[in-house]
Order: sequence, then C-alpha cells, then structure tokens
Amino acid sequence: MHNKVWSRVLWVYRREKMLGNDRLDFRRARETLRDHSGLSGNIEEKVTMKEIDELKSEMDGCRKCTIAKLRHHAVFGEGNLKAPLLFVGEAPGETEDLTGRPFVGRAGKKLREIFAAIGLKEDDFYITNIIKCRPPNNRNPEPSEISNCAKYLDAQIKFMGPKVICALGSFAACRMTGSDLPIGKMRGKAFKTDGAAIIPTYHPSFILRNPAMERFLKDDLELVIRTLKGT
Ligand code: URA
Repeated sequence: MHNKVWSRVLWVYRREKMLGNDRLDFRRARETLRDHSGLSGNIEEKVTMKEIDELKSEMDGCRKCTIAKLRHHAVFGEGNLKAPLLFVGEAPGETEDLTGRPFVGRAGKKLREIFAAIGLKEDDFYITNIIKCRPPNNRNPEPSEISNCAKYLDAQIKFMGPKVICALGSFAACRMTGSDLPIGKMRGKAFKTDGAAIIPTYHPSFILRNPAMERFLKDDLELVIRTLKGT
C-alpha cells in the first residue's frame, strides 16, 4: 500500500483506539478511513449547505447519548462556513447550553478578547466543538459521545475544506490529530495532512486558570494566521 495511505490508516487506527474502539484492526481502519475522509479536512467528498442544514435539524432532535436528556440546546457551531479557518473546542458549557451558541461563556469571552487583540474578526472563522451537547458539570466527553457526534463535525469540515483547523485543548487536539500526546507537547506546531493544517493549542478555560500561559495561546494563534497566509 502507498506510504501516504498507510500513514492515514495508522492515523485512523490510533484515533479509533482513542475513541475506545479496541476491536479495530487495520482492515477496519481502512474502512473507517473511507467513512471519515473529512476528518483531516479532505474535501474530496462534497457536502452541500442543504445537507448541513439537515444535519443541524437531526442534531436538534438527536437522543443518542444520555446527556441529550439534560440539554437546553445542542450547539452546532457559528461563524463563516466559507472561511478557511475552523476552531474546534471540546463541548458546550453552561452558557452555551442555555444560549445554543458556542464559546459565549467566560472561556469564550477570553478567547474572543484574544482574537480581537490579534486582529481576527468574526467573519474570518467558523467555531464549533467535538461534541454538541453539554456534559454534566462540564466533565470530559466520553468516547461514545465523541463518536456519536463525529458525523456533525466531519460534515462541517467537509463542507468548509478549511486551510487551518485550530484545535482548542487536549480533547479537540486528540480528535483532530489522532495523537494522544499531552497538549503541551502538541501545541505550537502545524500538523500537515492531505487537507487542513491542524494547529493544536491550549483551551481558553485553561488560560483562565493559568493566566501566565496566555502568551502561548497568542503565539499559537499567530502561527494560525501565518499558516493561513502561507508565510
Ligand atoms: N468550552 C468549549 O470547549 N466549547 C464551548 O463552546 C465553550 C466552552
């Protein structure tokens, strides 16, 4: 098999392991690779705006996970789906659950304040999460929740075909790169894929707890901008 294909099969294999799929073998990894070809921003398989709207309606009625019973709103995402930049966070928090909008609570305000400081405008990006319902008490997403929500994020990526995906925090970084390295080891680098460059960075709620780390998040966002410009 071609080297590039093997490296993507390995990537899918590691990602599925991370999602708790222990029975995966390489043949199944190849099948999963086909099923999730949009994960790295590969835009070979087109998704239309109509399909995005249908998926949003499907998400609004989805009851696959137990946390769906607890939600006020599932949060699809917001921003410019035609932009070359996608931010992916972890999961809605309390304010997001109440409003149906991503990154509008304390962490979101911090992130948007940093965006403004470095000149990123609302129209420059789309922002969403790996899971669309709020986990109780903001606990970590379960592998089954990440898996059940995969089709929404995958479709968003396929529709956008972004040039850069910035993964906010370790869960988003693992989901997008397939690596389980700690976020401190992944951040500050651009992971090249066939589609988007994936740039992991710290989650803004980590920055709220550790204000001295804000400069690293800013540095990573500068890398995002440089990568978008191809410089
Ligand atoms: N944290 C996230 O990861 N996503 C949100 O939408 C809000 C807080």
